[in-house]
Amino acid sequence: MTPTPRERLHLETGWRFRRVAPDQVDRALDYVPWPELGEAQDGKDADARPEQVRHDAAKTGLRPWILPGANPFLRDPARHTQRPDQQPPVAPDAADPALDDSDWQRVAVPHDWAIAGPFLVDGPHGGMGRLESWGVGWYRRELEIPVEDAGRSIHLDIDGAMSYTSVWLNGSLVGGWPYGYNSWRLDLTPHLVPGGRNLLAIRLDNPPRSARWYPGGGLYRNVWLVKTSPVAVAHWGTTITTPEVGAESAVVEIEVALENTGSDPVTVQVTTEIFEIPGSPAEHDAPAADGDPVENCVPVGQRALVERGAPVAPVARIEPVTVAVGPGAAARTAASARIDAPSLWGPPPTQHPHRYLAVTTLRRGEEIVDQVETPFGVRRIEFDADEGLLVNGERIRIQGVNNHHDLGALGAAFNERAAERQLEILREMGTNALRTAHNPPAPELLDLTDRMGILVLDEVFGSWYARKTDLDFHLIFEDWHEADLRAMIRRDRHHPSVILWGIGNEVGEQYTEQEGALVARRLVEIAHEEDPSRLTTTAMNYAKPHMPLPAEVDVIGINYQGEGIRQEPVFEGTDRIRTPPQYGRFREAFPDTPIMGSETSSALSTRGTYLFPVAEGQSNPARDGAGADDATCMVSAYELHAVDFGSTAEKVFASLERSPFVAGEFVWTGFDYLGEPTPYYSARSSYTGIVDLAGFPKDRFWLYRAHWRPGVPTAHLLPHWTWPGREGEVTPVHVFTSGDEAELFINGISQGLRAMQPGQFRLRWDEVVYAPGEVRVQAYRNGAPWAEDVMRTAGAPARLALAADRDRIVADGRDLAFLTAQVLDADGNEVPTADHLLHFTVEGPGTLVATDNGDPTDLNAFPSPERRAFSGKALAIVRGEAGATSSLRVILSTDGLESAEVVVELHR
Ligand code: GAL
Repeated sequence: MTPTPRERLHLETGWRFRRVAPDQVDRALDYVPWPELGEAQDGKDADARPEQVRHDAAKTGLRPWILPGANPFLRDPARHTQRPDQQPPVAPDAADPALDDSDWQRVAVPHDWAIAGPFLVDGPHGGMGRLESWGVGWYRRELEIPVEDAGRSIHLDIDGAMSYTSVWLNGSLVGGWPYGYNSWRLDLTPHLVPGGRNLLAIRLDNPPRSARWYPGGGLYRNVWLVKTSPVAVAHWGTTITTPEVGAESAVVEIEVALENTGSDPVTVQVTTEIFEIPGSPAEHDAPAADGDPVENCVPVGQRALVERGAPVAPVARIEPVTVAVGPGAAARTAASARIDAPSLWGPPPTQHPHRYLAVTTLRRGEEIVDQVETPFGVRRIEFDADEGLLVNGERIRIQGVNNHHDLGALGAAFNERAAERQLEILREMGTNALRTAHNPPAPELLDLTDRMGILVLDEVFGSWYARKTDLDFHLIFEDWHEADLRAMIRRDRHHPSVILWGIGNEVGEQYTEQEGALVARRLVEIAHEEDPSRLTTTAMNYAKPHMPLPAEVDVIGINYQGEGIRQEPVFEGTDRIRTPPQYGRFREAFPDTPIMGSETSSALSTRGTYLFPVAEGQSNPARDGAGADDATCMVSAYELHAVDFGSTAEKVFASLERSPFVAGEFVWTGFDYLGEPTPYYSARSSYTGIVDLAGFPKDRFWLYRAHWRPGVPTAHLLPHWTWPGREGEVTPVHVFTSGDEAELFINGISQGLRAMQPGQFRLRWDEVVYAPGEVRVQAYRNGAPWAEDVMRTAGAPARLALAADRDRIVADGRDLAFLTAQVLDADGNEVPTADHLLHFTVEGPGTLVATDNGDPTDLNAFPSPERRAFSGKALAIVRGEAGATSSLRVILSTDGLESAEVVVELHR
């Protein structure tokens, strides 16, 4: 008898970690030996375009032992590979249970081995964030397998490990998974010794130049040990769809996959009960009307309680189905239920993200042998060539952002609160959609988007056969594309927030003819097989309507071309013209296919930095002396500049207004991210975020909020108003507002009332002359006062201020408080140019995890307790010790100014 039918243990602590010095790496343990590399380059030009590299199945390395892990995902048995009978010829010391690892570093998982730095100051490393994510590392840990576990099935579930993971148990190679972004499982059962010592050793091998951004390294997502009885619901074994959704009732279809790893045939009864998740409407009490404020989410800890608040009565039940599962066999059941008057899942502010929970139970007679819970939502997603996206019949404009997976100063190490904070900030701006560029996200991110009602374009790959960087996924695309795509879909298909499967981003196959289209066709076919309920897309920056690739996907995703790529030449006769806007051309060629802006803008700016002279018009390239400064590596926050192929927010808004059939846009990017610091590759992080790496909004944030939440009063002034030395000089003032006109005052003197013209999204007073004092804007809507903003010239720095995003956090060793430090003058105005070296101290049972300031050029390592203020601000991230019940005192100090402190309560 097993103690409980299913246990899912979080393998968070107890790990030992060691990186292997490059000259000590045993290359025989690689998946396959990497090809020789040429000279490194930095920047987008390093991207390979038309070249096709087909990986030749290598004969050496661990590939023969790892690749069979793909078998459960390969539909054609001819593609299955057979694991060799014997262990690999190399037996690594690090996997030897007898090795003394007491001098290895103790770490908690999720763990990103590169984020602590130091930053690599020299060399072409800007593209990957100037942090050494590449290399080999080992993690070791004992597993507790009591003697009572004999006869149970025991699996290791890894939510994501970067990358080319091989897993060793008690000295033997169990298996692994190459792609660093996917979730996967290994059966440990045959290698475990119940009641004995069980030593798990995990090797990760991150190739250099594996990405165009910072990938992170190591066991950077959660790792679980799952114990079940031999007959159990299979991995990702419940599939839930809602094929009929109406106001009166909804049909829920549930498929349950069972497996029997035991040696006896077993007959079980399968039932599923459906409960409404209590609190789901209130928890995300989104505004009923757009004018209401958006509430914050219930904090992580409290949310767990809400979730546990046991659902009382099921709203629907699937009657027991009897299923026989032979030894070593699998079985499936499919049934449906009806929910009366369903509470639908949909995005705020007009809909609510109501959720349900399906509880599937396997019984043998009276005995419960397994039970799994699958949260899901009842909703109808449709794409229409004229209307765009319809959710439950309502037309929803996609107001989306792209984000990479890193969490700024925390790196790739997944943290639920950090991800939730990002989404809260984006939601405040009016974001209703997220594209997971360019890989599957942490599974918990989709739990958050489900709860918060944020629509997701779940994207699997950044490249196919054609490489983008020397050692990216193209090396193993042939081996793994099917397994990785099916794995992502099987994991994510019950999430109501997922509305589309993205099969690729700007793939080199765009440049080929039928060859690339055939790859797309194959991926689309796989996606449809796994999930007939959702459509597919691919994000195209080059493909034109007459090319074969766009015809293969269900929804056409265009990157940047909707507005017309500024610098890419197109010739008409002998005249060089710009690449013209493509939305209309695609529509003409594909009148029945929905179209969206899968990537837009790539506007550039550095928070709080304003450069003069200010450009006319908008959507200008960023060049030294014209929106950018090569000496400081800053781009002006007047928000008038973009990458050469991109455009500013406003040009995109205008083009979408001209093309109402386009379903909406995903801006590149919501948050700044580590790596790809166009236009300054000496920096560590990007300039494209609407929000900086520390989570502080740039001015653009209010431009989007004004446009995306038109019912919310917004008026936002820029630049700051502290310009000693600019007295008498022209200092343009711009305003982002959801009002239709506004009047600007400098020291009480009107600079005129200006009205927003059609196709215009900011008000400009470009002739304003700077005088210290007060700048104020009063915005109007339909003639009535609507919103205002005011700024005063700051005096000398006088004191510090420190504020926490939450003053109570859970002491579980994971929850975080994010503290904003500011430099203020004697009257409490932020000093917008302050760059004091700030010092953070934590007293009490907790840790300072990291500091940051959003400055892309700051190469001070993230764990440092000292951080220069940047444009008046800095960030500290603190965590409570697991189990503590008292509080943390965080003290902020700097030379010569009054310090500040904040108390963060810890609770269980
Ligand atoms: C796009 C690309 C993104 C990112 C972005 C930077 O073309 O899809 O991954 O590189 O440019 O502006």
